Amino acid sequence: DHGIRSRVVVCSNPLVWRLLAPRLPPALRAGDPILLPDGERFKGLPAVSRAYDALVRAGADRGTTILAIGGGVLGDTAGFAAATFLRGLPIVHVPTTLLAQVDSSVGGKVGVNLKAGKNLVGAFHQPRLVLCDLDTLRTLPVREYRAGLAEVMKYGIIYDAALFAELERDLPKLLRRDPVVLARVVARCCEIKADVVAHDETESGLRAILNFGHTIGHALEAISRYGKYLHGEAISIGQVAAAEVGIVVDKDIA
Ligand code: NAD
Ligand code: GLY
Repeated sequence: DHGIRSRVVVCSNPLVWRLLAPRLPPALRAGDPILLPDGERFKGLPAVSRAYDALVRAGADRGTTILAIGGGVLGDTAGFAAATFLRGLPIVHVPTTLLAQVDSSVGGKVGVNLKAGKNLVGAFHQPRLVLCDLDTLRTLPVREYRAGLAEVMKYGIIYDAALFAELERDLPKLLRRDPVVLARVVARCCEIKADVVAHDETESGLRAILNFGHTIGHALEAISRYGKYLHGEAISIGQVAAAEVGIVVDKDIA
């Protein structure tokens, strides 16, 4: 039963809730969901505080499981609320963007941004379960889907040359959201992330490879006030820049 007790509180955002609530079992649709504001610029402590207030109103206790349905912003924010409310509630992630399915929902990093920078407040809080339903991606806008591909490519570059070759070969199908290719790719990305995190949960070494492209990517997001690039877009620019820096360093050493 993954340690999930009978009481579940759903946490989502208004857009995702409108799109996906009709597809949930009646028992999950019945209660009042906690709806947090949509968008990277709202991934902050005020949203966490809102989640705490709603959990108090709902009478949540340590037996209450949070069911987070949404993209990475929602998962990171609800995850941080889950990690800290009553010193920790169990959480189940139902990621609904490509990026969240292959990356943010797996591995237990949760947190929010401060004005000073991205993800500066957070915790490691592993989910009891991550449930990726590929059908949820049908309504994802093309730009968001493509941004998610940046984190998909990452796994090929940092960990699995065969996956990278497969991505090069199957890119047209992947862009069409071909269900067979998508299922294989999402599963492989989750496997790689789980493997890395199992070796180094708290990022004392190996896990840092998952941050490929993130140093420059996060800086780009922050200086553009989270309004210009989607997270995945900033990361893909960061990956190209990191690779170029790597080539220069490599030449210098040679
Ligand atoms: P997001 O959560 O902002 O979602 C993108 C947009 O798509 C939002 O407007 C959302 O409401 C909408 N949406 C979500 N599901 C939808 C669906 N099925 N159909 C239509 N619209 C849908 O962005 P994201 O790319 O999912 O996540 C980015 C965040 O993830 C960043 O804050 C990043 O820092 C974080 N992240 C965290 C980790 C981690 O390990 N915790 C890893 C990578 C990224
Ligand atoms: N996205 C980086 C990590 O999960 O470690």
